[in-house]
Amino acid sequence: MLSAQDMQEAEAHGRAVKAVYVYEAPVRLWHWINALAITLLAITGWFIASPLPSQPGEASANFLMGYIRFAHFSAGYVLLIGFLGRIYWAFVGNHHARQLFVLPIFNASWWREVLFELRWYLFLEKRPKKYVGHNPLAQLAMFLLFLTTVAFMIITGFALYGEGTQEGSWAHTLFTSWVIPLFGQSQNVHTWHHLGLWVIIVFVLVHVYAALREDIMSRQSLVSTMLSGWRMFKDDKP
Ligand code: HEM
Ligand code: HEM
Repeated sequence: MLSAQDMQEAEAHGRAVKAVYVYEAPVRLWHWINALAITLLAITGWFIASPLPSQPGEASANFLMGYIRFAHFSAGYVLLIGFLGRIYWAFVGNHHARQLFVLPIFNASWWREVLFELRWYLFLEKRPKKYVGHNPLAQLAMFLLFLTTVAFMIITGFALYGEGTQEGSWAHTLFTSWVIPLFGQSQNVHTWHHLGLWVIIVFVLVHVYAALREDIMSRQSLVSTMLSGWRMFKDDKP
């Protein structure tokens, strides 16, 4: 719903509350770079786990898995640097930039809105509510399914990567040295890192479905908001 702060924001832009500037350029840029990196990581990770059947010819003439792993590690760096940049922007950006990181869990009305959105998504409510930032259910899903999983994938991914770059490398010092002993052995880290792939896939499937569904049904712009930054509100049906 439009909070007092949102109304002020809209009025500061000299408009009736029809459009509010929500996602600043760094958040939008990060969103799409992050989505691309994750798509690449999921595809290449899949092939690392289930490699293609053997290649014909001399082994030394083939480097296909090497290229696949190189793409995975490069996208891994993009994910890490983007993630750090996004955390920085949560401190210096507008208040919507902090939504991904902070859940108002002690606010009872926020929980009521989470339940309302759940009913709305299940087609049990007739009229959508309007939100300037993320709706509470989306915020909860982004925190639990996206934020924590991506942090986990970065930690376990760089722990595995540090095994290759070996002792003395930053990845080994920062991650491998404590993550592998914590999980017991390297194969366990592989298995948990692999499980993370499926959590991310479930998030992306639900996320894209919800973004498109809300764009059509909730009387406010969604996809174009992540492109232009502006949330447009359509008139309510009589
Ligand atoms: C790997 C794919 C994707 C991932 C991991 C992802 C992740 C995220 C995250 C974390 C946010 C919160 C942004 C923030 O607060 O900083 C977000 C917002 C959003 N995403 Fe994605 N996204 C992906 C793909 C897509 C695609 C393909 C679409 C378009 C169909 C899309 C549409 C949106 C929209 C519209 C929002 C803003 C929702 C709102 O205004 O409440 N995303 N996404
Ligand atoms: C959304 C993020 C990510 C996804 C979905 C993903 C997916 C995967 C999958 C499915 C595997 C195969 C695991 C197995 O069954 O053995 C894998 C392996 C691996 N990933 Fe990731 N990963 C992600 C992020 C990262 C990051 C940030 C890094 C850091 C560089 C990384 C480094 C590695 C390494 C080193 C391996 C093992 C390669 C090998 O044994 O040949 N991953 N990843």
